[in-house]
Amino acid sequence: MSDRAMSDAATSGFTTGMDRQLAFYRAGVAGSRPDFPIGYEALERAAREVLSETAYDYVAGGAGSEDTMRANLEAFRRWRIVPRMLCDVSERDLVVELFGARLAHPLLLAPLGVQRIIHEDAELATARAAREMGTALVLSTVSSCTMEEVAAEMGDVPHWFQLYWPADPSLAESLISRAEAAGFGALVVTLDAALLGWRPRDLVHAYLPFLHAEGLANYFADPAFRALLGRAPEEDPAAAVGRMATLFANPALSWEDLAFARERTTLPILLKGILDPDDARRALDSGVDGIIVSNHGGRQVDGAIAALDALPGIVEAAAGRPVLFDSGIRGGADLFKALALGARAGLIGRPYAFGLGLAGRDGVRHVLQNLLAEFDLTMALCGCSSAAEIDRSRLARQAP
Ligand code: FNR
Repeated sequence: MSDRAMSDAATSGFTTGMDRQLAFYRAGVAGSRPDFPIGYEALERAAREVLSETAYDYVAGGAGSEDTMRANLEAFRRWRIVPRMLCDVSERDLVVELFGARLAHPLLLAPLGVQRIIHEDAELATARAAREMGTALVLSTVSSCTMEEVAAEMGDVPHWFQLYWPADPSLAESLISRAEAAGFGALVVTLDAALLGWRPRDLVHAYLPFLHAEGLANYFADPAFRALLGRAPEEDPAAAVGRMATLFANPALSWEDLAFARERTTLPILLKGILDPDDARRALDSGVDGIIVSNHGGRQVDGAIAALDALPGIVEAAAGRPVLFDSGIRGGADLFKALALGARAGLIGRPYAFGLGLAGRDGVRHVLQNLLAEFDLTMALCGCSSAAEIDRSRLARQAP
């Protein structure tokens, strides 16, 4: 990336937390109120009003009893922030560098598939908000818009491609090379969805979006996928959906297969879904560049460890190599805690999905603005001027 592109990529539509809140308070003097809810729970409630029941449950639900989904949130409550005083926090710098690219802030949008069930503008609305805010986005394999369309929308703002490693190597190769050609800056290989988790809310509705031909844009546009079909998806969509269902996941994948991806791209490779320090060591020994600690927002293994509880051990195992984090970040303080435990950046999933459902691009932007505002104010009030200053010394473990 050129210096110019690097500085453009780090330009954020976000100003400061103080500006954001003053804009609300000033508007309040003239009698107006924020257009959308501020807190996460209120946002989720409002989105529920506008989403179909099936779409809402698909987004909001988790695996089994949803124990891990709850544990993800509870884990944050067990860490307490210890603010420091008199640190001159008048200027704050949210920029982080990852894999040679500058991110305007240590927050990314996690890969969420099938966004057309949430809003008609789907990933294009999300990408517009992300570009306006300078927020890096990770695009799902099972997106409703093609990766080429989304990359064009993102421009110079960093965007990474998430790979669901398909059961057919020609398709895997094609998806990877298309992502590189389209300008995605990293490949995120999701490991925790080799099979679909047991999700009671979706089972009750007997609803799996892919079988309704949702989220298949990248497959239907792919020459390698099309070559595997007897007839084009436009002529026989049902057969194309059926073929995708047999290729989507690859339970046979093993550590040895990582070399296949490594040989086919020069992009940084991150593995998403690592929860065990031994897996983290093995990943880094296998030549990948980074790790995303995640339990898929509690959607895969009910009873799995809270992602935040797994984070410190994996940061230690990674020995300085980049570790990112998702699953349970709901506000600026959560992001602060994840960084304090060693994550270089955090990703959000459901918060922006609900913003998208509520108001498309404006809803996603609202969520990003507020989360970053709260993060910026938390940083300042805790005596940190930059994301790099946020470390373990800023936290205390809550007494049991
Ligand atoms: C996801 N997630 C996900 N992950 C991935 O690697 N590829 C994908 O296509 C999807 N799709 C998806 C859809 C929906 C509706 C949700 C809620 C989640 C998981 C996602 O990237 C991330 O790990 C979690 O959403 C993070 O947890 P929170 O922020 O939702 O708690």
